[in-house]
Amino acid sequence: MLRSEPISTGFYVPERVIGNEELSQWMDTSDEWIRQRSGIVERRWVDGGVGSSDLAKEAAEQALNRAGLQASDLDCIILATLSPDVYFPGSGVFLQRKLGIKNIPCLDVRNQCSGFIYGLSIADAWIRTGQYKRILLVGTEVQSTGLVLTSDGRDTAVLFGDGAGAMILGPTEDGDRGVLSVNIHADGRHAEKLWMEAPGSRYKPWLVAEQIEKGLTRPYMEGREVFKHAVVKMPSAVKEALEANGLTLEDVDYVIPHQANARITQGVAKSLGLPEEKVISNIHKYGNTTAASIPIALHEAVEDGRIKRGSLVCLTAFGSGFTWGAALIRW
Ligand code: UT7
Repeated sequence: MLRSEPISTGFYVPERVIGNEELSQWMDTSDEWIRQRSGIVERRWVDGGVGSSDLAKEAAEQALNRAGLQASDLDCIILATLSPDVYFPGSGVFLQRKLGIKNIPCLDVRNQCSGFIYGLSIADAWIRTGQYKRILLVGTEVQSTGLVLTSDGRDTAVLFGDGAGAMILGPTEDGDRGVLSVNIHADGRHAEKLWMEAPGSRYKPWLVAEQIEKGLTRPYMEGREVFKHAVVKMPSAVKEALEANGLTLEDVDYVIPHQANARITQGVAKSLGLPEEKVISNIHKYGNTTAASIPIALHEAVEDGRIKRGSLVCLTAFGSGFTWGAALIRW
């Protein structure tokens, strides 16, 4: 049976480190509040003039190097982001251009924190059907430039970071390896609980000064509501993935949840009855990098040898939409 398998991974974060103390210069917050509520110690922010496709290029080149491939070997790009370089076209085409290639299809996925899992679902399906053989899947975000760096924006400004993570996927007929399944979900009843309202086509014109003044162009989140759903939906998606494959939690080597909050990650571990070391967390270093958080954590775990050939890894995400899902991969 033809399956997709990860061939390599890559990641990139900007050099500029923003510690919690630095944030407290601009807004009424503290290292103690941020650490206690989220587990974040620092995050990486771009210096300006840099878009999500720029970070994606760095992560993609690392993944290409790890795989011993050239950009010209790719036959498809899937890019997940909530922070595209421009409103349209998608960042995928800018990434394609920056990699020096042309003609191959570029798809942007707009499923925020679940974007990488949604993108993986598409990549997996395309490879299984034989449509494409070398797909570059990237989750990439430049969120810092959209945050409000005053006390008014502190509820979200302290949480989000910039970064990119990449995976190259190809076909395998090795029955023991590869992407075993991807299950994705959405519930649009909760769309306004984590969103950015403007600009948008329901306004005429799409962007006016009043929207900025009213704060509609910054992310808005009902943190507690999102938290409550995240700690339920991610464990349920993990269990669904295992059941679909006739596997149990005992078979799992690592769960990699979307990195939204260290307390959410701990809640996922507790709900699944897994020891915390089996549920990967790196939010202290990067904050919430939305679509990039899972591939960055995955890359780090592969690089440091925690994930190795034969490891059973479950990726799971939850976020804006609400959207969520899980992917089970035999490495
Ligand atoms: O990636 C997408 C998915 N996102 C998530 O999963 C995030 C889910 N939610 C969370 O992680 C948490 O809800 C937060 C970390 C966002 C917030 O933690 P919380 O324990 O739910 O705090 P809260 O929102 O209930 O706020 C508690 C207090 C409030 O003050 P009052 O009303 O109690 O006086 C806030 O105004 O903390 C205040 N606050 C802050 N204080 C210092 C909010 N932001 C800050 C801040 N610094 N940055």
